[in-house]
Amino acid sequence: MDRIVLVENLNYSYPPLVPGDPVVDALQGISLTVRRGETLAVMGPSGAGKSTLCLALCAVVPHSTGGVFGGRVTICGQDTRTTTPAHLSACVGVVFQDPESQLFSATVEDEVAFGLESQGMLRDDMRQRVDWALGLVGMSDHRLRSPVVLSGGQKQRIAIAAAIATRPDLLILDEPTASLDPAGALEVVQALEGLRHETDCAQVVVTQDAELAAALADRVLLLDGGRVTHDLPAHEALRSPGLLTEHALFPPPLAVLNAYLQARSLPVDWRTVDEAVAGVRRLLGAEGTCRRS
Ligand SMILES: Nc1ncnc2c1ncn2[C@@H]1O[C@H](COP(=O)(O)OP(=O)(O)O)[C@@H](O)[C@H]1O
Ligand SMILES: [Mg+2]
Repeated sequence: MDRIVLVENLNYSYPPLVPGDPVVDALQGISLTVRRGETLAVMGPSGAGKSTLCLALCAVVPHSTGGVFGGRVTICGQDTRTTTPAHLSACVGVVFQDPESQLFSATVEDEVAFGLESQGMLRDDMRQRVDWALGLVGMSDHRLRSPVVLSGGQKQRIAIAAAIATRPDLLILDEPTASLDPAGALEVVQALEGLRHETDCAQVVVTQDAELAAALADRVLLLDGGRVTHDLPAHEALRSPGLLTEHALFPPPLAVLNAYLQARSLPVDWRTVDEAVAGVRRLLGAEGTCRRS
């Protein structure tokens, strides 16, 4: 099946925290698809509904949250209204923002094997699968360590290995780098880039980081106030500084530079810093302003 995620006119309201309070309309009229092998970045301001959408994709919304649910979410052909999160976990892996809250085993290999054990996998198969998952995130040398002693980036890579060990059709990552320092965030982005080449699962990555989206995403879904405002090819969304700032996102510096020069009738579209450096050299050289002898 090519279409892993199908969301049709999804509306969702959380129940009021205090009886009598107004309900919170978290998602309104959301429709989207994600195909096998495709990575969708979900972006937008805080409170836009990004995490709620993730919870709807793994059936936690509405099964564990209650509230008012309308429309339809179909994951790997299963309607989430009639499929529990536990049942769906066979084909959906989820990684949250805070790695601390997701790791609870004594060793890294136990952590990664946990989901496989609950699927009743044979020991030898399990060992191979743990090797594969740890290799993909570059953590093979740490299998006997306690997750507690690892850095934030390493912990998050273990959480990703645990989520992919079951070979899910859909991997959901809700702000996977938001609580990491720059070095840890880079480790996780590199692990996710490697994953894209090694598996063909569909990925939904929530992020506020346009650079991360540029590295990973095929498409960008922009949410605001619980609604989809744009669903665009990633290169189109991420080279529009105005669109990103409207959604409280910082545009990639190269996009700002490209837009600045385009507005001055210079038809540039530099994709990498190296391209930009070469392009600026050419421009300055052509105007004779940076020639040094
Ligand atoms: N458990 C909850 N109960 C009630 N309202 C919630 C709950 N979780 C989130 N919300 C509300 O739903 C809206 C969307 O929240 P969320 O999906 O967390 O947004 P984001 O991840 O984009 O920051 C917000 O108005 C938020 O306050
Ligand atoms: Mg969130």
